Amino acid sequence: MRFGVRARLFVVSVLLVACGVLAFGIALERQLRRRLAASEEEDVRRAALAARALVLARAAAGRGLGDADAVADELGAVTGLRITIVGADGSVLGDSALAPAEIARVDNHAGRPEIVAARRTGEGRARRYSTTVRAELVYVALPVDDDSGWIVRAAKPLREVDEAVAELRRNLAATGLAGLVVAALLSALASHWLGRPLRTLAASAQAIARGTPAPRMRADRPDELGLLAGSLNRVADQIRVAIDQLAGERARFSAVLEAMTDGVVAIDADRRITLVNGAAANLLDADDRAIGRPLVDVLRAPAIARLLDARDGDVELEVGDGRKIRARASRLPDDSGWVLVLSDITDLHRLATVRRDFVANVSHELRTPVSVVQATAETLLDGALDDPAHARPMVEALHRNAVRMAALIADLLDLARIEAGRYALDSARVAVSAIAERAIAAARPAAAARGSTIAVDVAAGLAVRGDAGALEHVLANLLDNAIKYAGDGARIAVSARAAGDRVTICVTDDGPGIPAAHRERVFERFYRVDPGRSRAQGGTGLGLAIVKHLVEAMSGTVRVDTAHPSGAAFRIDLPAA
Ligand SMILES: Nc1ncnc2c1ncn2[C@@H]1O[C@H](COP(=O)(O)OP(=O)(O)OP(=O)(O)O)[C@@H](O)[C@H]1O
Ligand SMILES: [Mg+2]
Repeated sequence: MRFGVRARLFVVSVLLVACGVLAFGIALERQLRRRLAASEEEDVRRAALAARALVLARAAAGRGLGDADAVADELGAVTGLRITIVGADGSVLGDSALAPAEIARVDNHAGRPEIVAARRTGEGRARRYSTTVRAELVYVALPVDDDSGWIVRAAKPLREVDEAVAELRRNLAATGLAGLVVAALLSALASHWLGRPLRTLAASAQAIARGTPAPRMRADRPDELGLLAGSLNRVADQIRVAIDQLAGERARFSAVLEAMTDGVVAIDADRRITLVNGAAANLLDADDRAIGRPLVDVLRAPAIARLLDARDGDVELEVGDGRKIRARASRLPDDSGWVLVLSDITDLHRLATVRRDFVANVSHELRTPVSVVQATAETLLDGALDDPAHARPMVEALHRNAVRMAALIADLLDLARIEAGRYALDSARVAVSAIAERAIAAARPAAAARGSTIAVDVAAGLAVRGDAGALEHVLANLLDNAIKYAGDGARIAVSARAAGDRVTICVTDDGPGIPAAHRERVFERFYRVDPGRSRAQGGTGLGLAIVKHLVEAMSGTVRVDTAHPSGAAFRIDLPAA
């Protein structure tokens, strides 16, 4: 602010005073000059009239016109003006201001405007600068009478007018100066009176423009400044409300973004990242530093570039750690970029694979017994039925395969029920020794058939919290496996002991055991260490899957015990009752 309000006010008031004084002075001077000149002229005319009357009075008194110069001198003395008497030929006969010797040298006056006018109209007036007296003079000329042709002329310098005007100028200059001083004082006062509220307003407006909190301004003045302060206050309020709204909306927006399980990435028209939510940062293994970087640096997939070229649509891709992602791109309406929504579809993929494998496994397991049943039934129908010696083994094979299919279906149904949560399990106190005895009793004939023994070492009174039927099912499955896979004459053992608030039950054998690479996977459905051998034993690979599900449904765990020196060892942990 080079010229503040104060300086402007000062300049304006000084100009006002100067213009006022000047205009007033010019008007006053003109009027004064006109009036004074007119009154001077009237004086001169009266003197001329008086002079003529005097000349005529002399003539009437019989003294004749006499010595014109003496008459002029006398008239001049009486009127105090310069009196000239001009003859009929225009020569100067007498002059009150000149000596007789000088009069002879004066030019002929016949051509002087006032003389010419006097002869023509009876009175002549003129005003001009006289080099003789060095001043502007006013002249009035009158003819004395019709006979002599004499003209009497009175003249007076206008010096008094000039003096009066000069005095007026001096007075005006003094008044103007005083006016300037008053103007300076008044403008200082006015700017002080106006300047403070203006400065406050300016400071507030600057604060509003900077976005810093502006102090509220007093808006109770009844003038324009009050109006301005009121308007600025309202503007500041509106800005504050708008900022609060924006901040609220932003907070809601980011809360929604962060709560999303899907990843959201926004990119601008140059395909640089402008926003990444938490889920996207996880999926892409990126953080806030990704902002501003090109998308291709963070998500290295040519498919994405093609997707963006195509404006909208979706594509499936694999990210660094093997996870599968579906990326859906939507172009922003004003073409200022895209929004990518990234969904982690790894689990979906895995489930689809599991389902596919499951159907393939079931079909595979059913194919052999079904084809045996079919072929055997056909052979029987083709006549073997009538040959009792052949018929019996065939019917036995039919039965065996039907049992196998029934077992498979029963296992599948069990698994489905457990997985669907429809296998109602008790949470009761179950005496481990009783259940173990029951399972061993059921397994004993099969063990005896292979010359295997089953030892039991379960402390009396040991009890778990769970379902008696499920626990028996679990033990029966583990014993069945031991009998099947440990070989003939195996030594199988069932032991149980308390460990704090848990009870550990172990089923061990001294067979070939389970190689380390398979220990985790034997609990998967249809997983078998040696598919050929297992199938030959009538196994379908569902037994351990059912074991795991049942144990977990009773809040327990089951795993292959690696601490066991030789053979297989399955260790179950269940809550103690
Ligand atoms: N005691 C064991 N000794 C050696 N291998 C075992 C033993 N128990 C299980 N296995 C291996 O684990 C695989 C999976 O066992 P699981 O009980 O799930 O299936 P299965 O016995 O083949 O069929 P199912 O039990 O449904 O009749 C078996 O095929 C076998 O290879
Ligand atoms: Mg089994």
